[in-house]
Amino acid sequence: MELLRGKTLLIIGLGLIGGSLAKALKRNGAGVTVFACGRNQEQLETALLDGSIDGWCIDPVELSLQADIILLAVPVLSVKPLLQTLKGNMKAGAIITDAASVKGRIVEDFKATLGDDYRFFIPGHPIAGSERSGYSASRDDLFVNRKVILTPMAAAEPLAVRTVAALWQVCGAEVHGMQVQRHDEVLAATSHLPHLLAYTLVNTLLGHGAQREQQQQVFDYAAGGFADFTRIASSDPLMWRDIFLSNQTATVSILDIYIQDLQRMRELILQAEGDTLRQEFQRARQARNQFINRFDANRNREGNGRRDRPANIQEADNMDYLARPGGQVKGDIRVPGDKSISHRAIILGALAQGVTRVSGFLEGEDSLHTLQAFRDMGVVITGPENGELSIYGVGRKGLQAPRKPLYLGNSGTAMRLLCGLLAAQTFDSELSGDKSLNRRPMRRVSEPLQKMGAVVETDEQGTPPLRIKGAKLHGIDYVMPMASAQVKSCLLLAALYAEGETRITEPAPCRDHTERMLSGFSYPLQRSDEGRVCTIAGGHELQATDIDVPADISSAAFFLVAATITPGAELRLRHVGVNPTRTGIIHLLQAMGADIRLENTSQAGGEPVADILVRHAPLHGINVPEAEIPLAIDEFPVFFIAAACAAGETILHGAEELRVKESDRIQAMADGLSILGIENETFADGIRIRGGDIRGGEINSKGDHRIAMAFAVASLRAAEPIVIRDCANVATSFPGFLTLANAVGMQVSVQGRN
Ligand code: S3P
Repeated sequence: MELLRGKTLLIIGLGLIGGSLAKALKRNGAGVTVFACGRNQEQLETALLDGSIDGWCIDPVELSLQADIILLAVPVLSVKPLLQTLKGNMKAGAIITDAASVKGRIVEDFKATLGDDYRFFIPGHPIAGSERSGYSASRDDLFVNRKVILTPMAAAEPLAVRTVAALWQVCGAEVHGMQVQRHDEVLAATSHLPHLLAYTLVNTLLGHGAQREQQQQVFDYAAGGFADFTRIASSDPLMWRDIFLSNQTATVSILDIYIQDLQRMRELILQAEGDTLRQEFQRARQARNQFINRFDANRNREGNGRRDRPANIQEADNMDYLARPGGQVKGDIRVPGDKSISHRAIILGALAQGVTRVSGFLEGEDSLHTLQAFRDMGVVITGPENGELSIYGVGRKGLQAPRKPLYLGNSGTAMRLLCGLLAAQTFDSELSGDKSLNRRPMRRVSEPLQKMGAVVETDEQGTPPLRIKGAKLHGIDYVMPMASAQVKSCLLLAALYAEGETRITEPAPCRDHTERMLSGFSYPLQRSDEGRVCTIAGGHELQATDIDVPADISSAAFFLVAATITPGAELRLRHVGVNPTRTGIIHLLQAMGADIRLENTSQAGGEPVADILVRHAPLHGINVPEAEIPLAIDEFPVFFIAAACAAGETILHGAEELRVKESDRIQAMADGLSILGIENETFADGIRIRGGDIRGGEINSKGDHRIAMAFAVASLRAAEPIVIRDCANVATSFPGFLTLANAVGMQVSVQGRN
């Protein structure tokens, strides 16, 4: 942790949090001189004797001028007077941070004392603690695998953010970022309200006035439930008084909701509504068990080899869709952000110098896995909140070794791109994924990387997990055997670190978001032969930039087909990315007779975008031109549904890549189409589909998001309902698909729920 070495930290308030941080910094050899300031001289002496601190004072100004970083670990309402004392008694550029459970009030107090323009104040909150308080309760492992939330202001100095992040990361914590207000709302619900309830329940049982003595006997019989529920009522009363006084709005609003819920439960009991009560308890039990499992998985990450799904990514339990015929397609919608661009925004933003602000980010599981991987490598990322996030870039050489294997879920893009990046680091790493990802071919990246000097090991079948040893790379001249943007991007990322030039030639044009975005980050590269050859030299730096992620044309594709095949349909899709390396689906559908028009074309962050207007039109079958295949590679499942609704035959050859996507998409679609009564014939590299009448039936999506959504679209022309099994992975690329599908008039729901 170079950012910390040689720095002096002054901790004001040597209680549980301050004491634990001091101990953890020493245990982990952070190279920080730690001073403490407190009121209890005996405790300060103990801390000095046990080696947790290097010096202490009672009056903060005695040592504040020596500090590079000052941590305020005192109750919320003590912060303001403390800041007044510190004002004028700090080094220029000293970083100030805090550990309070409330952020809005602290920020206000800070602005009122040190002014709006102090760029070195980085509010923080470690989500760790205990009902015990004081230095005697402190532990050097208190922050291991715990989250610390930073709420930096827009104007905050990026280096100060990274330094405060490093302070907690070196103690084993995972650093997240959030907006101030959101922090206070989240904490009001998850921490402040439970404390209020615990305190209140104890007091309720304690009774008031005359009843008091009699009531006290109740405690003699209070066993596990009472003790469990009220554990946190042993917390520090002064600290909690300050928290409630400082977070009034958010705590009162969640309290009001809770009171309403309690009133409802009261009614249910009075009315003896046993079934409803049981359902309520059942719902809560399920939710709590799920939460506890995730919480424990996260805590136990330390030392258990393979890393489980990170706790902040909620992969849905399995689910089936019921798609009813007779739906409509009308309206004006915006589908979620582009998946490919979202992955790349995180990757390049993390490697850049400065802060990259992203809007329109896809909050789907795949891109969230990439985000989590970079948090695991020490990058501070605030959000995502409504698709917005800020990435505090660490520079090309600033990534830290992840403590555990990086888990990438279902995402082939994350695995292949990260493989190239990690092969060039100074540390070793391991990448793993879910069942589907662990079956996908990785030699397409490991072999060219090995030519660059990389040490990447797959298992015997050439599949994940990938074990990567950091190595020094050199440039190569590589002609890709397949038109794969993932392979190209993997090599481009490796090339940022390689000595000399890397030249990559693609057999046919495939998506070029990495090249465009590298230019957006001011990284020099040359493209020739209509973009098919890309030459790039290692050793330059990336400069942070803002990125507006357009809506994903691959998600829009489901609606392009839905509207095209549905009589009377008319739909406008807003702000869709129409990069020419992605618009194959539009060309193919137009060649079949579709009525698709682009309007309001413009540029967003180096990518062309447009609104797309699509109306119903009768289709006829086509021979798919091979050059269009890489430009429509992810859209074939839903394109096959268009083919099933077209007059005559549609024939596809040269698309063997479809067999190694999230599922074997040729087979999965052929099986499903046959069940729905659509005649087809598969080839090693494609399929022939004869359009016809679609029946109902039960389809297995094979856990592939795009197969699931394609068959949901098929229901618009089906005679009977279609049940689609195994649809949870729709959340990898298209969170909110069901809501949007129903908003335009389709009739798709989770089976068993209305
Ligand atoms: C992607 C490239 C394509 C595509 C995938 C996303 C990317 O994969 O299928 O969904 O973001 O680079 P291939 O490179 O394997 O064709």
